Amino acid sequence: MQSVAARAPAKVNLQLSVGARRRDGFHDLVSVFQAVALYDEVRATRAEPGSGVTVTVEGEGADLVPLDETNLAVRAALAIAEQADVEPDVALHITKTIPVAGGMAGGSADAAAALVACDVLWEAGLDRPALLEIGAALGSDVPFALVGGTAVGTGRGERLTPALARGEYRWVFALAEGGLSTPEVFAECDRMRGEAPVLEPRVSDRVMAALRSGDAHALGRSLTNDLQPAALSLMPRLRSVFEVAAKFTALGGVVSGSGPTCAFLARDDLHHMELLFALSSTRHTRTAKRATGPVHGARVVEGSVR
Ligand code: C5P
Repeated sequence: MQSVAARAPAKVNLQLSVGARRRDGFHDLVSVFQAVALYDEVRATRAEPGSGVTVTVEGEGADLVPLDETNLAVRAALAIAEQADVEPDVALHITKTIPVAGGMAGGSADAAAALVACDVLWEAGLDRPALLEIGAALGSDVPFALVGGTAVGTGRGERLTPALARGEYRWVFALAEGGLSTPEVFAECDRMRGEAPVLEPRVSDRVMAALRSGDAHALGRSLTNDLQPAALSLMPRLRSVFEVAAKFTALGGVVSGSGPTCAFLARDDLHHMELLFALSSTRHTRTAKRATGPVHGARVVEGSVR
């Protein structure tokens, strides 16, 4: 095999409950993730011996993506090469649809797609638990990008349990001008909490009940994100996006992860289009995208002998 492509989905957090800051700097959290049909693709192509891992990027926010070893896809390829005991000579090409630094785990999706593509390219034959372990070492959201669907994450967010979820949900994502740094949003959350005691995060019964019954209206009313006040504090203009969504009767809305992307639920196909148009043209959004969820996690889309 000379070349393998894989794609992995973006996520939205239906619930994100943030506990106290741990000694290692991370926060214990409870997160209910849903994978949505916005995908990044990573093509891994064998390269000349000695060329190492190189990366090129096209698509949404491509100029913002680092091309060195801070790129999670590069680190994913290096990790698979080590496990497979092969020289890490590979050219990665990333095609982005997921916003960069948007709170939708685009970097994690790239890592998950690179893990899956390189595992096949180098015939490493790693099983699911091994890929999940390597993924968790790369970033808290990488395991979910591998698994997809709807799942509860605990620990840093990397320990996953599938959630019983019915139905299909129609999301509109309002993309902001500029991004937010995840560590800065967590730090702002800590700052805003001050010395107040922090409750241990628990799974929301309302979110789980809404998912079990497949009720988009109930889910819309139950969306919660403890990082939302911090994201709004760092980017106050996001408030107006929620006002527009309310005017166009979104079933609910939430800042996605650490933001600044905001996610809104629509009632039906027509309302999905109406919300998309409304949120595409506000003063404070760069653009809007629509997608449904849940969808599957990272998968090979094509393996060719090119
Ligand atoms: O794991 P990941 O690299 O995605 O995390 C990025 C940053 O987000 C961490 O360095 C940390 O500052 C913050 N974070 C956190 N608690 C978590 C997950 C992430 O504080 N559970």
